[in-house]
Amino acid sequence: MLHGIDDAENWHQMLRCDAIGLDVEYPSATGRRSRRIYLDSAATTLRLKIVQRVLDIYQPHYANVHSNIHFAAQISTREYGWAHDMVLEFAGADPDKWMCFFVGNGTTGGMNRVARALRAQRPERDVVVTSAMEHHSNDLPHRKHFREVVHVPMEVTPISLGRVDLVKMGAALLAHEGKVNYVAITGVSNVTGISNPIHEIAALAHRHGALVVVDAAQMAAHMPLKVSGHSEDTRDLDVVVFSGHKLYAPGAPGVVIARKALFADMEPDEVGGGMVDTVFLDRYTVSERFPEREEAGTPNIPGAIGLAAALYALHKVGMDKIAADEKRLFEYALLKLAGVPGIVIYGETRPSLVQRAGVISFNLSDRDHAFCAAVLNDYFNIAVRNECFCAHPYVRDMVSMSLECVADSMSNDELERLAEMHRGMVRASFGVYNTPADVDRLVAALKDISIRGDQLLALYERLPNGNYRHRQWAFDTTKEFSVRSVVDSLLGGDPADNQVEADSAGLVFPR
Ligand code: ALA
Repeated sequence: MLHGIDDAENWHQMLRCDAIGLDVEYPSATGRRSRRIYLDSAATTLRLKIVQRVLDIYQPHYANVHSNIHFAAQISTREYGWAHDMVLEFAGADPDKWMCFFVGNGTTGGMNRVARALRAQRPERDVVVTSAMEHHSNDLPHRKHFREVVHVPMEVTPISLGRVDLVKMGAALLAHEGKVNYVAITGVSNVTGISNPIHEIAALAHRHGALVVVDAAQMAAHMPLKVSGHSEDTRDLDVVVFSGHKLYAPGAPGVVIARKALFADMEPDEVGGGMVDTVFLDRYTVSERFPEREEAGTPNIPGAIGLAAALYALHKVGMDKIAADEKRLFEYALLKLAGVPGIVIYGETRPSLVQRAGVISFNLSDRDHAFCAAVLNDYFNIAVRNECFCAHPYVRDMVSMSLECVADSMSNDELERLAEMHRGMVRASFGVYNTPADVDRLVAALKDISIRGDQLLALYERLPNGNYRHRQWAFDTTKEFSVRSVVDSLLGGDPADNQVEADSAGLVFPR
């Protein structure tokens, strides 16, 4: 059946209002319950209802993919296999030459596997070139498994830092000619949302015999991916890694997409059931088939099926359409946030110099990032993340640069105080479900904090770990949800104790 523009528009509209948790309410320090505004999708996206619905319908058919005769095993095996096909289709990877496999702990699990495999595949190339804007998951695995990791700096623009500096990357590749195994680069930064030209980087790496490994953890939900099929095949990507927890799926199924040739003819890193054809006491033969040979043990089947459902839904709408829609929201957010008195937005923002997606990190000039995040949560029910977002060097670089810009107008004491308050940032990050009204709520809250900051600060104490705690009010997590209470309630515990949980779970259980 052919689908038209209207179908895609309708599907997009459905996804925009379709996440679980968009209408969740929490009590706040104002004494009122209100709807939570979720601006923490860079950490974890909310789960799409459509994904949960697929999982609910699948659940009775749940079985191990290592069983193969009974009906549920047949269904599970086929759909788990299809999840791999869907990943390749979503990422625009030619299934004849690329394969994908799932790993346990998100992008981090994937990157560790990739680092070990590529080091084993080409041990003579013992250097990795990466950038100084990476998440730790696209830095530490390379440091652990390679002799040297070169961190290429970002372009310095008149006001800030931009994307990775390709001239310096070329120089690093030249300086380590013949030794660079791969260039590991983020598609979109989890701190600033700044996007890197991954296909130009692929061509550059390939000119030096290096591979390119793309961390698409932040990119995959915000921009179209095209692993293969470029008019110049040097622009194709060798390896791409991402995770379901930033793609509207449950849990954190990590995904590695890679050229088959890179993982063939080599003992897989992990061994066990499911990846062998025959096992004798003195030898075993590893399966030739992908993904089996890279997936030892029983995989996270519901995680993969949930992710496939999310990818299929996004693919039906079209990632180009989602990206265009989010770009409008993002530009609106940048414009409105720029009007908050004393705000410092990190990273270059001018569209002529950088493309950005999904993430804006900032500080208020005279406020601690942790205080700001606490007040946004406690008084305004706005969920953001603060600190350094597992990208310490990048955050430090940008904070130092912003401090240098104001250093001349401050005494040393003032500067030190500011440096202490800005040793992290506040991050607002967006998903397909966010709206201009969410941005307006954030902007209004920040304006309020910038006006009433001292009054609010007096209501908080700073804890030794740097977090801020309200002196007179506390959020009780167990009143909203606890596994124990829900189980007690379902098993017939004291109904009075468990009313909230039973109601919010929407469950009816015979007593
Ligand atoms: N890596 C996730 C983030 O950026 C958790 O917040």
